[in-house]
Amino acid sequence: MANHFRPQVFASFAVMALFSAAAIAAPPQQAQPPAQHPVPWAYAVAVGPPPPPPAPPTDAQLSATSTLPGSSVSYTGKQLADSSTVLDWFPQDHPPMPTIVAHRRSPTANPWIGSCAWCHLTNGKGRPENAGIAGLPEGYILEQLADFKAGARKSADQGKRNTATMAGNAAGLTQEEAIAAAKYFASIKMTPWIKVVETDTVPKNHNVGGFFWAPVEGNETEPLGNRLLEMPTSLEETELHSPRSSWIAYVPTGSLKRGEDLVLRGGSGKTVACAACHGEGLKGNGNFPPLAGRSPSYLARQLYDMQQYTRNGPGTQLMRPVVQNLTQDDILAITAYLASLEP
Ligand code: HEC
Ligand code: HEC
Repeated sequence: MANHFRPQVFASFAVMALFSAAAIAAPPQQAQPPAQHPVPWAYAVAVGPPPPPPAPPTDAQLSATSTLPGSSVSYTGKQLADSSTVLDWFPQDHPPMPTIVAHRRSPTANPWIGSCAWCHLTNGKGRPENAGIAGLPEGYILEQLADFKAGARKSADQGKRNTATMAGNAAGLTQEEAIAAAKYFASIKMTPWIKVVETDTVPKNHNVGGFFWAPVEGNETEPLGNRLLEMPTSLEETELHSPRSSWIAYVPTGSLKRGEDLVLRGGSGKTVACAACHGEGLKGNGNFPPLAGRSPSYLARQLYDMQQYTRNGPGTQLMRPVVQNLTQDDILAITAYLASLEP
């Protein structure tokens, strides 16, 4: 078998030699092609061949019921898999949901218009792969829906497909639906949801569906390196869309102090102190969004998207001088610190 592959190995050496010759000859100002997955820890896009599609559920699985600790609701496997209506495990935790928040507009039209809470959860706390939107100012939410609709919010990592799903969703809303959803999420107070832990080693983990990272079974660990990895405290409850099952963000030792300097003082001219716009304690101010206690993976993607001009709405222009000189390590430290603050 080994011999069988040899000619290909030699062929690729020859190709590599050609490329390096071209690289030497190229003028120095020629732009490098952008990396396919520029900030893998934040975008969490799955790489490698896709896993085989799951086997269709059996009748027994479809009729089996599940519940969550503290919930008096139970759902069958069939209900769990039906994304046209959100799972409402704790109705007492949130105000009555407008139709567009709880239900998909139509099972046959654009399948993702509506049911905001399917992705952002019934209390709007969101998950690392989308966004926490509880407690955002109503005006800011409406601006962002308009930016998504106008094509001003795309992901810098083209493999992150759910940002495009969100944009399609925003584009399909009526103004009445957008206002109802914005009022709903703005009315809910964000409470602590993410615990930030400084460490050099993390549980050995795997990518879940191109969405986030989760520990593999067992007690194995791996070095964290220069990454920030946000993982569910219970993968099982997260998979059931629990709006109460919280997250841990593992960050490299020393990140919080570095992040604090950048956020509070601009890191000696590297960026601009954030509270001037984002308010005291980074809790938001008028239509400037709050940053405290929000998903660091989400916030990091936004800073990087803004730096790459893939997020480029009218409001984003005020963020230009802020993101211009940030390195990926700065983005990591800033978002680790922000996530560690009380929302
Ligand atoms: C299919 C999942 C999905 C659905 C359904 C969905 N969203 Fe989103 N939403 C996302 C993703 C993904 C992002 C952006 C994440 C990124 O690019 O990093 C996002 C981002 C947002 C943002 C930006 C938050 C910020 O801080 O700027 C708002 C606001 C928002 N969604 C509101 C809504 C509303 C309102 C609805 C229902 C009408 C909705 N979403 C339905 C997945 C979804
Ligand atoms: C001059 C005012 C200003 C300053 C200073 C500023 N921001 Fe912003 N920031 C904004 C505005 C306006 C928006 C909304 C952008 C949009 O509409 O796209 C924003 C949005 C953001 C977002 C996206 C939030 C979301 O919900 O998607 C992040 C993250 C952010 N800022 C981080 C920072 C950090 C970190 C600093 C300090 C290092 C900072 N900002 C300083 C004005 C500012």
